[in-house]
Amino acid sequence: MNKLENARAKINEIDAEMASLWIKRMEAVREVSDFKRENGLKVLDSARESALLEKNSEAVPEQLKGYYAEFLRGVIGVSKRYQRDRAEACDGLIRLELGDRSYDILVRRGELKNAAKHLDLDRKALIVTDDGVPPEYAEILAEQCAEGYIVTLPQGEKTKDLDSFKLLLKNMLEKRFTRKDCVIAVGGGVIGDLAGFAAAAYMRGIDFYNVPTTTLSQIDSSIGGKVAVDLDGFKNTVGAFWQPKFVLIDPDVLSTLDPRQTACGLAEAVKMALCFDKELFERFESFEPGDRLDDIIASSLKIKKAVVEQDETESGLRKVLNFGHTIGHGIETAENGRLFHGECVALGMLPMCSEEVRERLKNVLSKLGLPLEISADPEKIKAAVLHDKKSQKGGVSAVRVNEVGKFEIENMTFEQLFDLLDNYLREAKK
Ligand SMILES: NC(=O)c1ccc[n+]([C@@H]2O[C@H](COP(=O)([O-])OP(=O)(O)OC[C@H]3O[C@@H](n4cnc5c(N)ncnc54)[C@H](O)[C@@H]3O)[C@@H](O)[C@H]2O)c1
Ligand SMILES: [Zn+2]
Repeated sequence: MNKLENARAKINEIDAEMASLWIKRMEAVREVSDFKRENGLKVLDSARESALLEKNSEAVPEQLKGYYAEFLRGVIGVSKRYQRDRAEACDGLIRLELGDRSYDILVRRGELKNAAKHLDLDRKALIVTDDGVPPEYAEILAEQCAEGYIVTLPQGEKTKDLDSFKLLLKNMLEKRFTRKDCVIAVGGGVIGDLAGFAAAAYMRGIDFYNVPTTTLSQIDSSIGGKVAVDLDGFKNTVGAFWQPKFVLIDPDVLSTLDPRQTACGLAEAVKMALCFDKELFERFESFEPGDRLDDIIASSLKIKKAVVEQDETESGLRKVLNFGHTIGHGIETAENGRLFHGECVALGMLPMCSEEVRERLKNVLSKLGLPLEISADPEKIKAAVLHDKKSQKGGVSAVRVNEVGKFEIENMTFEQLFDLLDNYLREAKK
C-alpha cells in the first residue's frame, strides 16, 4: 500500500513539474507564433514536426518509443492549435511591452460583443461610462460579465474630479469588490482617465480594462497608463501611472461620435505623424472624408506604444507627444471653451513647423475640418502660456518639426517661443 502511495506521490510531483514545463513551452510557442506573424511567415511547418519527433525519441528506451511519439504528437497538436488560435486572435493585435505590465491592444470592428474572449469578465466589473456615450456600448459589455455594474456619469471634463473618483470607489466598496475584481472604462479620455485612476487606487490597485469610444481615446489616451483627475480646475493634478490589462478598440463605435470630436482626435494622430511617421502623414494627405479610420488608429497606436515602451513615466521621449501643446494650451485658455482641445493642438502645431511642413499641415488640417486661424488675442495666449509654465523659469523645451516625420527638441526662452507665434500670425495676415 505504502509503495502505491509513494508511486502516486511521485507521479503527482512529476505532473506538477510537467505542468510548469508545459507552461514554459507554451510561452516559447507564443514567441515563435508572434515572430512568424510579425514577419509574415507560415504558422505551421510539418517538416519541423517530423524532425522533432525523431530527434526527441532518441533518448527514450525502445519499449517506450511508441508511447512517447504519441505523447509528443499530442503536445505538438496542442501547440499548433494554440498558434492557429493566436494567429487568428492576433489580427489587429498590438502588444505593448513593459515587462510584467505588458498588455495587448486589439483594434477590430464589431469586437465589443466579443469582449469576453479577451477580458476576464468572470468576476465583478464596474463599467464606467458617461451620458454622452450611447448606453448600449456599456450594456453590451455588462451582458458578458458575471456581475457587471454600470455607472453612468455626466459627460464633460468636469466629471474628471475627486467627487466622481470617490463615487466610483464607494460604489465598489458597497458592491464588496475585492482585489480580484475589475474596472472597465467605456468612453472617451475623461472616463478612461477617471476610471483608470479609481482602479489604480481601489485596494492599492485592481485590474483595469479600457474600451475607448472617441477617436482621441482610441488613438492616444487609452494606452500608456497615465490616469488622473483634475483638482480645482487644474488638469490631471492627482493621478498615477496604472497600465490597463487589455485595451479593446472597436472602431464601429465611432459612428455615433460628433464629427467635431472625431476631427479633434485626429489632430493628435496628425501630431504623432508629423513627429514620427512620414507615411502616416502621407496617408492623411490622401485622406478623403468618410474614409475608414482603422489603419490611422493602428498606426498612431504603434507610434505611441513605441514611445511609451521607451519612456513609461515621461522623463524624456514621451514629452515629444506634447508637440503643439504649449501654444495649444495657451490658445485653449484664451478661447475660454470656444475651441476644443484637439482644435487648439492643431493651431498650436502651426507656429512650430518649418514653412514647408506648415503648408502641408494646413492642407491636412483643412481636409479634416480643423481650424487654421488663430483668432484669440495673442497677448491672452502668451499670458496663458506663461501661467501654464510658470514653474519653468526662463523658458521651455519646445518640440519643432522641420521635416515631416522628424522632430527636434529645442530649449528656448519665452521670447523666442512668442516670436514664433508672432511670425506665424504675421504670415497668416498676408
Ligand atoms: N491619459 C492620457 O494619456 C491622455 C492623453 C490625452 C488626453 N487625455 C485626456 O482625455 C480627455 C479628453 O478625452 P476625449 O477627447 O475622448 O473627450 P471626452 O471623454 O470628454 O469625450 C468627448 C465627448 O464624446 C462623447 N462620446 C464618447 N464616445 C462617444 C461615442 N462613441 N458616440 C457618441 N458620443 C461619444 C462623450 O460623452 C463626450 O461628451 C481629457 O481629460 C484629457 O486630459 C488623456
Ligand atoms: Zn492633447
